[in-house]
Amino acid sequence: MSVTQATAQSAATPAADFLPLQGTDYVEFYVGNAKQAAHYYMSAFGFQALAYAGPETGIKDRASYAIRQNKLTFVLTTPIRSNHPIADHVHRHGDGVKMLALRVDDARDAWQQTTSRGAQSYQEPQVLTDAEGEAVVSGIHTYGETVHLFIERKNYKGVFLPGFRKWENPWFKPEESGLQYVDHCVGNVGWNQMNPWVKFYEEVMGFKNILSFDDKDISTEYSALMSKVMSSGNGYVKFPINEPAEGKKKSQVEEYLDFYDGEGVQHVAMATKDIVATVRSLRSRGVEFLQVPKSYYDDLLERVGAIDEDIAPLKELGILVDRDEEGYLLQLFTKPVQDRPTLFFEIIQRKGAQSFGKGNFKALFEAIEREQASRGNL
Ligand code: FE2
Repeated sequence: MSVTQATAQSAATPAADFLPLQGTDYVEFYVGNAKQAAHYYMSAFGFQALAYAGPETGIKDRASYAIRQNKLTFVLTTPIRSNHPIADHVHRHGDGVKMLALRVDDARDAWQQTTSRGAQSYQEPQVLTDAEGEAVVSGIHTYGETVHLFIERKNYKGVFLPGFRKWENPWFKPEESGLQYVDHCVGNVGWNQMNPWVKFYEEVMGFKNILSFDDKDISTEYSALMSKVMSSGNGYVKFPINEPAEGKKKSQVEEYLDFYDGEGVQHVAMATKDIVATVRSLRSRGVEFLQVPKSYYDDLLERVGAIDEDIAPLKELGILVDRDEEGYLLQLFTKPVQDRPTLFFEIIQRKGAQSFGKGNFKALFEAIEREQASRGNL
């Protein structure tokens, strides 16, 4: 089997979407030092200060910084005392994604629909209020210690959520890098766990499996993985799920599972309308990317056909290109953004293509293996 498009799904009579998602509301990271992590995403990626919650706003046990660029919102949260579940989370996993928060019209119904189908509750629907209105937040557990929050904010006018106050610094407004929105978020799960989580997203959240890659699609001489892409009913939210596969050496997914000490978010893909400008901006501010060999560009046009971009800047910046039936895409992956070889980011520009860059897997995974080998983990 090679790539399989689940075309039968679209031919069937569409069932009512019991969990209509409006997209990713925000991504929350639990980190060791939220003040400095927020500064990194602002200075390196071009996010802007948005909101703050902490002891000064009545939240006594943690500090959270919300930052934003276009439709991307990140929250960086840290505990301020050692005896705290977030401190345990950071101790075990290092810095990583805790919440993939999803925007819904009705957070009570989202919680009811998912928990009645077997989801484990993280938080019962809770009404948060302040002078700017009310928001409703509920949540369920997914793989590892990761959580999906459901955020209903149609009756809220404040800057982020109740409990937060506006945060701004007129002296520090780093130039934006052109990042627009979350394209997809990938989870790494353990051996034999991909299909149970596919079933979870299908049965509990009403997602569909739109693409599958087996270990023959995603393998190099040394290592392999498998992946299935899950999409919400309306296609606004996409969660690929990776599982390690047997190879001569250790899969990159195994390395992640070892160092994250469990399942979790492997990468968040952020979309741009101009990947050359965005990657140039990110590189100039210190963001480090995986490097494929320059020979990748020698026969690029033979592989992907005509593209709008000049090859020279793509080659200079290390940007990869892939084509599918609908168009092409440009993409690039950062190195891990913390010292553990766990979470990284993808920068992606879609020009018609709705796939995930299968044609680049081999070159990319060989680049990842070189990094793994340099860490002594291959
Ligand atoms: Fe990706």
